[in-house]
Amino acid sequence: MILVYSLGGSILAGRDAKSLQEYADALKELAKAHQIYVVVGGGRIAREYIEKARDLGASEMFCDLIGIGATKLNSALLIAALGRAAPQEIPETYAQAARLASPGRIVVMGGVAPGQTTDAVAALLAEYVGADRLIIATSVDGVYTADPEKDPKAEKIASMTHGELSRMAAQTDMKAGSRSPVDPLAAKIIERSRIPTTIVFGKKIENLKKGALGGHSGTEIRQE
Ligand code: UTP
Repeated sequence: MILVYSLGGSILAGRDAKSLQEYADALKELAKAHQIYVVVGGGRIAREYIEKARDLGASEMFCDLIGIGATKLNSALLIAALGRAAPQEIPETYAQAARLASPGRIVVMGGVAPGQTTDAVAALLAEYVGADRLIIATSVDGVYTADPEKDPKAEKIASMTHGELSRMAAQTDMKAGSRSPVDPLAAKIIERSRIPTTIVFGKKIENLKKGALGGHSGTEIRQE
């Protein structure tokens, strides 16, 4: 299978070298049987640097460029952990990412263009390479009926349609809440190409495999 992972920056940040190695080993194991692409987010460094730059009067566009820089820094760390299993090159375009792919090798990339997030990059890459599945490995363990931080009655949704995800992501954007762990642009792309998608808690290493092959406790995005 061709698998595209969107790995939130917070999933890698804070791990020591040994734990990063374990994460990389889990990806390498999957790469024996599947073609793997990983899009890495900016995490804490992106947020911290963007906030400071914004306070200093930087434009939003410039802040996005800083964010892209952070995604590349995190990508470089994952590439280091993957060793020979990853090309030591961070693709700047989708075509470059596809060209770098070969059996057993894991292509790692970050952001590519201002005005979006790495979830959108991962969704576009999944379209481009014709991925069998997109796995969004994030800091929450799925999509909830309400914000679980604020509403004790919030329940996790085990399965929802592409349209439902897209509508939920659009509403979340307007309210600036955190009900949908997927941003609206990424949700739209997932919807238009009906990409089979899984949203899992990425901090658990075993969810890399379970997100792709099943047995996870996150949210599955399915056909209507
Ligand atoms: P992330 O994808 O990590 O965004 O990119 P996020 O949603 O804030 O992170 P998580 O999921 O909560 O960890 C970090 C920042 O980098 C810029 C944006 O400013 C984004 O907020 N970025 C990233 C781009 O401008 N373009 C890209 O293609 C990717």
